[in-house]
Amino acid sequence: MIITTIEDLRRLAKQRVPRMFYDYADAGSWTESTYRANEEDFRKIKFRQRVALNLENRSLRSTMIGQEVAMPVALAPTGLTGMQHADGEILAARAAEKFGVPFTLSTMSICSIEDVAANTTRPFWFQLYVMRDRAFIERLIDRARAAKCSALVLTLDLQVLGQRHKDIRNSMSAPPKLTVANILNMLGKPRWCAGILGTRRRGFGNIVGHASEVSDMSSLASWTAQQFDPALSWDDVEWIKRRWGGKLVIKGVMDPVDARLAADSGADALVVSNHGGRQLDGAQSSIEALPAIADAVGQRIEVHMDGGIRSGQDVIRALALGAKGVYIGRPFLYGLGAMGEAGVTRCLDIIRNELDLTMAFCGLRDVQHVDRGILLPGTYPVP
Ligand code: FNR
Repeated sequence: MIITTIEDLRRLAKQRVPRMFYDYADAGSWTESTYRANEEDFRKIKFRQRVALNLENRSLRSTMIGQEVAMPVALAPTGLTGMQHADGEILAARAAEKFGVPFTLSTMSICSIEDVAANTTRPFWFQLYVMRDRAFIERLIDRARAAKCSALVLTLDLQVLGQRHKDIRNSMSAPPKLTVANILNMLGKPRWCAGILGTRRRGFGNIVGHASEVSDMSSLASWTAQQFDPALSWDDVEWIKRRWGGKLVIKGVMDPVDARLAADSGADALVVSNHGGRQLDGAQSSIEALPAIADAVGQRIEVHMDGGIRSGQDVIRALALGAKGVYIGRPFLYGLGAMGEAGVTRCLDIIRNELDLTMAFCGLRDVQHVDRGILLPGTYPVP
């Protein structure tokens, strides 16, 4: 199969990854309307094509939270990445470091912080979920510091879990429950099975040793309800910031009021994100929410965004509307499920190429000079 788009990677991943885990990645919450809007709203935004401008020596280099990036695109934190492909977090982190973009390891990863650190050479970012057991959170923060993670990405939009019907129907768990349906489905995925049988990393690597491990969890929803702290508030952000002491990114902001609070918290960046349409179904798309937030706080805090990016065109649309950098979630998971590390690299290559050419068509040579002027008025959301 010739791979030229992210959609090609998605189709291949669907063939190769057991349904339970493919669905876990591909799902949104409830009716999935926000999940769909994240992608659809990007396509409504049109470019102004320019010609006969000098397009030599183009540059995609930029910075995110002061760190140099080969292009302003990071890999988003995604739970259970090691179930899309054996050792998935390590493979994705390696692809990202070779490419020169940040990799963010989820709290809910299969490979642990230490595993990823031992198998990579550059610092990665660690994403933190806040659980009721604060001593455990402190240990996680300390582990991330000991592993030389160069940013803590604090996710604030998952204190309760948006219901994803597919996960419930599939009895999502890790490692997978060996029901007849699951065994039959997995038998049709020999590459995946061989990989998983060949690795020790099958449970949630960061949670091992925690009082209530999740390797035997019956469903993600009930475990989240038991463990995650619904009382999380901005006061907690303050102690987490103090305990961590390094670069802090607040993830999951969709409203200018919360964006101002994030800026007040002294964080280095916020991520405009609705969790890839997996939490509040019926929320705005991320790209629709971005301009108002960028206008409200863009002078005080770096603004990032994620949700629905499926091409380099989408990256440049988000940059034009005020993002200093973006994250991709499902696109790299599709690459990983399709072809392991090579698939993540392929995903990044596709996006880089599309980003470079689109920038050129818009008459620009430096990604750091992208602004709303490249977009056709009336086709993008205005605050
Ligand atoms: C996520 N996301 C997520 N976010 C987070 O902060 N911690 C996590 O553990 C996870 N887990 C997770 C798993 C899967 C399978 C997906 C698809 C997403 C949300 C993620 O970081 C990001 O916000 C979205 O994926 C961005 O949307 P796209 O790029 O997937 O459309």
